[in-house]
Amino acid sequence: MSDLAALAAEASTCTRCRLAESRTQVVFGTGHPRADLLFLGEGPGADEDAVGLPFVGRSGRLLDRVMAEEMGFTRADCYITNMVNCRPPGNRDPRPDEMATCRPWLDAQLAHIDPKVVVTLGNVATRTLLGRREGIGQLRGRSYPWEGRVVIPTYHPSAALRGTDGAMAGMRADLVRAKLALAGEMRAGEAGPAGPAGEATR
Ligand code: URA
Repeated sequence: MSDLAALAAEASTCTRCRLAESRTQVVFGTGHPRADLLFLGEGPGADEDAVGLPFVGRSGRLLDRVMAEEMGFTRADCYITNMVNCRPPGNRDPRPDEMATCRPWLDAQLAHIDPKVVVTLGNVATRTLLGRREGIGQLRGRSYPWEGRVVIPTYHPSAALRGTDGAMAGMRADLVRAKLALAGEMRAGEAGPAGPAGEATR
């Protein structure tokens, strides 16, 4: 068994926080075990809780599509995981103490995979990872140095599905930024090229 598979097996019985009581199953990260690119969401929803894999519902299908169209990537080229591995009841945001309790699982995945670029999806993952209070509209559109890696924040795909102003164009532009960062063409702290027309900068 690989180290990552052993970690997933260990996590599958985790009862460290209250989310264990209401989950169907633990939803651990999935993808290439040595991916240069890692997507970080907030937590599993109903579809993920039922299937046992991250981002398999509508948000995940949109992420797959934009990733393919803007980066030429499939899930096999990257790794996808969440701030918490268990579904928060009623799809509420994961609470700070739940994310803190789940953090060792995320840190262990990051240590194993050692991605160059982390794309944070939405407010919860972005604020928590970067330790910032601003919203995703303010934080996205550039890269951030973080623990020897490059973080590129973008909208959660659910914002694009809800039709949030500029979310789809912004997500597309940010994934282009992630591709440039992977190619070493954008260092942490840079904005990179302007996004497509209509990209939100809020
Ligand atoms: N939303 C998330 O943040 N993560 C998932 O895995 C699915 C939906």
